Amino acid sequence: MTNPYVEAFESSIKTPDVFWAKAAEDLHWYKKWDKVLDDSNKPFYRWFTGGVVNTCYNALDYHVENGRADQTALIYDSPVTDTIKKYTYAQLRDEVAIFAGALAAQGVVKGDRVLIYMPMIAEAAIAMLACARLGAVHSVVFGGFAANELATRINDAKPKVIVSASCGIEIKRVIPYKALLDGAIEMADSKPDACIIFQRPMETASLIAGRDIDWATAIKGVKPHDCVPVAATDPLYILYTSGTTGIPKGVVRDNGGHMVALKWTMKAVYNVDAGDVYWAASDVGWVVGHSYIVYGPLLKGCTTILYEGKPVGTPDAGAFWRVISQHKVKALFTAPTAFRAIKREDPEGKLLKDYDISCFATLFLAGERSDPDTLKWAETHIGVPVIDHWWQTETGWAIAANCMGLHHYPVVYGSPTKPVPGWNVQVVNPENEVVKTGDIGALVVKLPLPPGSLPTLWNNDDGFVKSYLDEFPGYYKTADAGYMDENGYVYVMSRTDDIINVAGHRLSTGAMEEILADHPQVAECAVLGVADDLKGQVPIGFLVLNAGVTRDHKEIVKEVVQMVRDRIGPVASFKTATVVKRLPKTRSGKILRGTIQKIADNKEYKLPATIDDPATLDEMAVALTSIGYAKAKKS
Ligand code: COA
Ligand code: AMP
Repeated sequence: MTNPYVEAFESSIKTPDVFWAKAAEDLHWYKKWDKVLDDSNKPFYRWFTGGVVNTCYNALDYHVENGRADQTALIYDSPVTDTIKKYTYAQLRDEVAIFAGALAAQGVVKGDRVLIYMPMIAEAAIAMLACARLGAVHSVVFGGFAANELATRINDAKPKVIVSASCGIEIKRVIPYKALLDGAIEMADSKPDACIIFQRPMETASLIAGRDIDWATAIKGVKPHDCVPVAATDPLYILYTSGTTGIPKGVVRDNGGHMVALKWTMKAVYNVDAGDVYWAASDVGWVVGHSYIVYGPLLKGCTTILYEGKPVGTPDAGAFWRVISQHKVKALFTAPTAFRAIKREDPEGKLLKDYDISCFATLFLAGERSDPDTLKWAETHIGVPVIDHWWQTETGWAIAANCMGLHHYPVVYGSPTKPVPGWNVQVVNPENEVVKTGDIGALVVKLPLPPGSLPTLWNNDDGFVKSYLDEFPGYYKTADAGYMDENGYVYVMSRTDDIINVAGHRLSTGAMEEILADHPQVAECAVLGVADDLKGQVPIGFLVLNAGVTRDHKEIVKEVVQMVRDRIGPVASFKTATVVKRLPKTRSGKILRGTIQKIADNKEYKLPATIDDPATLDEMAVALTSIGYAKAKKS
C-alpha cells in the first residue's frame, strides 16, 4: 500500500539524485551543485559536487534574515549549576560570529582543524558553529575520555587550536578538564598553536603563558566573522569513534550532504517543524549531539535544548519531565539507558504527575537496543508514541526508524521499524548473497549511501574501504547482525565485531584488552560485554597471570581497573575483572567469547564441539559466580 513513506523510500532508492535535489532546495547555496550524486570515483561517492555552501549560515544567519531573529534558538538548561540561559537566533548568530573572529585571530582558516573538549555548556555549541562559520573542521572529544584518548585524537586531527573549559560537572563532582587537556598535549606529538579555555566559576584553570588564552580574553575586541563559503564536499567535522582496536576511526562529515539530510530528517523522521522545541538528551561529544543537539534542529529553525544534567540525580527522576514541561518540548531523543535509570528510581512514574507534559508528542530512542520492557514502560507512563530508531556514528542519521513525519507504522517491540528513505538495507550471508526474509545475516546498505553519511575516514581512504566496503562488495557493512521480516521491519540483534554499548556509549573490548595485556603480571586476557540492567552492557575482564605470580589478585584487579580508567576514561565503566587459571578456547586457540558471554548472562549454552578442554568452561562459571554473575545451565 502506498503512503508518503513508501513514496519517499522508493523515490530515494530509484532516483536518489531527484529525491535529494528536492530536499536540497530547502537550503541556501552560494552556488548550486553541478552534480547531485557524483559516482565518478567509486566506491567513493560524493553528494552535491560543485555546490558552495556554509553550514553555519544555514543554521543561524538564514533564520535571522528570514523572520526568526527573535525566536529562541538554544536553551542551555543546567540543573547542575542551577542555570537556564536562552539565546535567540540573532544572539546565537552574534556570539558565534564573535567566537569565529576569535578563532580567526588565532590564525584559524578554512580547512584547519579545531579540537573541542568541552562539557555540556552553550560555549561548546558556539565553538562548533564558529568552526563551521570559518570552514574550519571541528573535532569534538567527549569529556568522559581520558588524556590518552584525547592525545590519540590530537595526533590524528592535528588541530591548530584546541577549545576547552576549566571543568565539567558530573552531578555534584567537579571534573577538572584542563589538567586532562594539559596531560594529553604533553603526550601528543602534534602540538596546537593555542588553547582557548572557558573558565567556569567552580574551577579556575591555570593557563600556560604563550599557549593558553582565556575565552573572555580571546573574544575581547575581535570583529564578528562572516560565513566563509566552502565546497559542499569540504569536511565540516571529524568525529572519532571506537574501532576494533585501540586506534579510533575519524569519521568525516561533509557540509552539503550533511545539512540537506539532517534538515530533511527533522520533519520526515521526528515530525517537527520550524518553531518547535526539540531536545536530544545526549552530549555534544557523541554523534547524537552533533546531529540533533546542534545541526539538525538549528538547520530546521527549531529551538534546541542543551542539557547539562542526567536523567536521575539532577535532582531526581523527574528531571526529564521538568525540562519537557518547562520548555514545551515536542520531541525528545535519548538512549534507552536514560529511561532504564528513570524507571529504576521511579517505577510507578509518580514524579510525572507533578508536571504538565501535554506539549510532548514523541519519544525517540537510539544508541543501543531498546529493550521492550523499558519501551512499554515509557509508552504506558508518558502516553505518547515511543520510537526506537537505529543508527551509527558513521551514518550520521537514522538507518531505520518509524518515520513519524511520513507515516506512523504500528510499533513492533524489538524492531526500529523500516529503513529510512535513502537507506537500501539488505541482509546478506558471508558469501555476500541476500538471505531469505527472516534469516539472520549481516545488515548491510547497498551503495551509494545517502547524503550525510561518512564519505571516508580522516586521512585514511584505505581504512574506510577496509573497514566498511571490502567484506561485502557493493555494500556498506554496518557491523550489526540482524534480519528483516515479511513486512520490511528491521531487527538489529548484535554487533559482529568487538564493539559494545555501555549506557549508549560505544566502546571497543579489544581496546580494553590491549590495556589489560600491558599489565606486567598479565599473561593473557579477555574483555566481554555482559548484560546490565541499567547500562545495557558493561565490560568485564578475565586475567590469566604469568606463572609464579603470588601477589594478591584483588590488588592486580584494582590496578587493571585503574589502568582502563586512566587510558580510556571513566566512560568505559570498566569496574569488574577476575583472575582465572586459563581461558576457554577452541582447539585452534580462539577464545570462546560467545559461550562465556552466555554463561555470564545466565543464558543456556551448548558445549562447543570445537572446545579444547570442557573443564575450562566450568572454571569460568565458578569465576563468574564469584564476581556476581549467575551460573548458567549447560544443555
Ligand atoms: N565528563 C567527565 N566524566 C564523565 C562524563 C563527562 N562528560 N560523562 C560521564 N562521565 C563519567 C561519569 O561520571 C562516570 O564516572 P564514575 O565511574 O566516576 O562514576 C562514568 O563516566 C560513567 O558514566 P555514565 O556511563 O554516564 O554512567 P553513570 O552511572 O554516571 O550514569 C546514566 C548512568 C544512565 C544516568 C547515564 O549513562 C545517562 O544519563 N545516560 C543517558 C544516555 C546518553 O547520554 N547516551 C549517550 C548517547 S545518546
Ligand atoms: P554509535 O556509533 O555510538 O551510535 O553506535 C552505533 C551502534 O549502536 C550500532 O552499530 C548498533 O550496534 C547500536 N545501536 C544504535 N541504535 C540501535 C538500535 N536502535 N537498536 C539496536 N542497536 C542500536
